[in-house]
Amino acid sequence: MTRVAVFPGSFDPMTNAHLDVARRASGLFDRLVIGVLNNPKKAPLFSIDERVDLIDRCVADLGSHVSVDAFDGLTVTFARRHGAGFIVRGLRAVSDFEAELQMALTNRKLAPEVDTTFLMTALEFGYVSSSLTKEVARFGGDIGPMVPAPVAIALTERLSTEPRV
Ligand code: PNS
Repeated sequence: MTRVAVFPGSFDPMTNAHLDVARRASGLFDRLVIGVLNNPKKAPLFSIDERVDLIDRCVADLGSHVSVDAFDGLTVTFARRHGAGFIVRGLRAVSDFEAELQMALTNRKLAPEVDTTFLMTALEFGYVSSSLTKEVARFGGDIGPMVPAPVAIALTERLSTEPRV
């Protein structure tokens, strides 16, 4: 049986916490599709194409069974489109749990054949989030430990052209 999983998220941008989860999941599933949500209601720092491209570069060493795809709409529709029986989500701390439980139960109601699996992020990345990384980068802090190198370069470049208010 081929085990296929999707790992959905906003990934604006991918952090070391995300990458750690992707790495762990890549060892568990035969195929892993990282799904980048194109949410028209949000104004991301990176476009959908930029986010897909950055993730592509960050996961290049995980193997050809790992791919990246953009999606809009429901995660379970995306999972079904890829023939996935699993959704992967990362948990950094207990504070993530409540929202994740609600999402997992909603997704199970919508698609009972798709199970959500949670992977614990490595302790060293337990504090890392995309939004705080952007904030640290905006104010000139060191984001090296928080994001993969291609993301650090892209973030620094993007924020250097951002208008100062
Ligand atoms: O990286 P994020 O922002 O924590 O990811 C959240 C995401 C994309 C997994 C979640 O917002 C999502 O699944 N959105 C798609 C819409 C959907 O399926 N909603 C119903 C179930 S939560």
